[in-house]
Amino acid sequence: MLWAPVLLQGVSFAWAASKGSHWTYEGAHGQERWQETYPDCGWQAQSPINIQTESVQYEPSLPPVEPEGYRSPGTEKLTLKNNGHTVQLSLPQTMRLHGLPRVYSAVQLHFHWGSQRHTGGSEHQVDGRAFPAEVHIVHFNSEKYANLSEAKNQADGLAVLGIFLEVGDSENPAYSHILDHLKDIRHAEQEISLSPFNIRDLLPAHLGHYFRYNGSLTTPPCYQSVLWTVFHLPAHISAAQLAKLQKSLHSTKEEETLQLSLVDNFRRPQDLNHRPVLSSFPAAPSGYSAGKIVAIIFGVFLGCLSLFLAGWIAAKRIREKTRQDQKGVVFKSSSPRPVTD
Ligand SMILES: *[C@@H]1O[C@H](CO)[C@@H](O)[C@H](O)[C@H]1NC(C)=O
Ligand SMILES: *[C@@H]1O[C@H](CO)[C@@H](O)[C@H](O)[C@H]1NC(C)=O
Repeated sequence: MLWAPVLLQGVSFAWAASKGSHWTYEGAHGQERWQETYPDCGWQAQSPINIQTESVQYEPSLPPVEPEGYRSPGTEKLTLKNNGHTVQLSLPQTMRLHGLPRVYSAVQLHFHWGSQRHTGGSEHQVDGRAFPAEVHIVHFNSEKYANLSEAKNQADGLAVLGIFLEVGDSENPAYSHILDHLKDIRHAEQEISLSPFNIRDLLPAHLGHYFRYNGSLTTPPCYQSVLWTVFHLPAHISAAQLAKLQKSLHSTKEEETLQLSLVDNFRRPQDLNHRPVLSSFPAAPSGYSAGKIVAIIFGVFLGCLSLFLAGWIAAKRIREKTRQDQKGVVFKSSSPRPVTD
């Protein structure tokens, strides 16, 4: 099987030559080397990040995110495409986002996920925990810019909604609109048209609880132009739906002889470099593991026990002292009084 890696390299070199700027998540063109071709990927305000709830700043004035036109996104067909890096759904500009410093218009949404061999798959993490997948809904600042290409490398150009996906008991029909069609776009560059459907239902139920920070695109060219909104609560899909995401797609074109699975398309968390991360809600550290809880309960128990013991010992001493004093009194009172007269 020695020839396999050689062949693999051959394929990626051929691809690199044809596209000029090929990148992958692992290997010779992997994420540690993106900055050689795309310098912004090595800058100081990159995404994704590990959101540490202990150091998040609660900002009560942050309003809920208000999507407009998400429930009925027009009448034109939406394009679902396997672009070799992810599965991406085009969105109409009539879908807008309010509740941010500017009004933003939607462009596309796409997914990041893992594989059945590893845990994890989301790009953002909360207290070091990754979710099985993450959806990004990409918007551009339409108050200031004409389109995505104009906005994408401007500091105030983009706003992305991040939605964690978690496995639940039931199928999520909103996600079926996308996941049921992956079998039609198994290979890179394949696309199909979908009738518009309710995009609001892809979001978590409550839009008031989120994390907010300034970061970047999570793929090359990694422009630092994104105002991030990462929802605290995940949306749920079934295990079978997650399996469709993990098993349906190839990152290679149909005609290629060596086919590669499109899996593990998530970037590792990037250094925060002292950027503030705000929360719209009081975020308690969610990392209370069973071990920590046991330790806390044990600590409180020990504390109570030592207080009780201290009290008991003190009470005992006082009792002993009182008894001795009383003995003294008894002795004194029973002693013959000196007769003075
Ligand atoms: C974006 O807008 C600019 C300015 O109006 C225009 O020149 C350009 O062709 C547009 N690009 C796309 C991809 O529509
Ligand atoms: C993001 O950057 C802008 C421009 O520098 C700044 O005004 C804003 O407060 C930053 N937002 C957050 C959440 O850090």
